[in-house]
Amino acid sequence: MSNQWNAALYDCQHAFVWHYGESLLEWLAPQAGEHILDLGCGTGHLTARIAASGAQVFGIDANPAMLATAQQTYPHLTFAIADARHFQPSNPVDAVFSNATLHWIPEPDAVIRCVYQALKPGGRFVAEFGGKGNIGAIATALFAELKHLGHLNCDTWNPWYFPTVSEYATQLEQQGLEVTRAVLFDRPTQLEDGDAGLRNWLRMFANGILAHVSAEEQMQVMQRVEECLKPVLYQAGNWTADYRRLRIVARKI
Ligand code: BEZ
Repeated sequence: MSNQWNAALYDCQHAFVWHYGESLLEWLAPQAGEHILDLGCGTGHLTARIAASGAQVFGIDANPAMLATAQQTYPHLTFAIADARHFQPSNPVDAVFSNATLHWIPEPDAVIRCVYQALKPGGRFVAEFGGKGNIGAIATALFAELKHLGHLNCDTWNPWYFPTVSEYATQLEQQGLEVTRAVLFDRPTQLEDGDAGLRNWLRMFANGILAHVSAEEQMQVMQRVEECLKPVLYQAGNWTADYRRLRIVARKI
């Protein structure tokens, strides 16, 4: 079952996702007149930041609700529904940018093939997403509690792809992209809404996993995950998610 998105909640309770992406724009360094594709643009806030540089940008996302919000918020920008594994812009672009999307797609080869085809020769791919060990404590507690309730095959419900630098760089190089910058780093991220922070996070980002079990079991799992993680991820009334990001820049040779 795939994750379901609530664009309004995503924007108000989880705005850190795109706020953190703002610093990735420094790696992109968009220039006026460039053509840039924002892959997995969500509600469009970073697409708008790229446009503010004077670049011609268009955003694509697989989720209609996110895209409708993006188009409503930024009616002057161009957005389209597309699957990251099967997209093709009408003309090659100078750069493909992607923030907090690629960890949802466990078929990196298909995505990278599209990125390669979308880029002009010399064009750049600038991306950030969850890297190896991302949400390690949260995922471990979540799957342990699901198993505890008897769902022994729940690992197969895991939708997330968190590669190491070398795994991802190898995929890029195998498809003709030269990696010029790569880093894996911890980004502990304080969640909104105090005590409810972890529960909100699970409802937003793990609802595709939780949908495999009954509503009653979902409540049980969330409660037990909170109990288990309280000593490590909760302090002074706030939850902190144990994010780890992989940032990468690669160039089409
Ligand atoms: C992340 O942004 O790292 C993330 C988002 C949803 C699920 C897991 C990780």
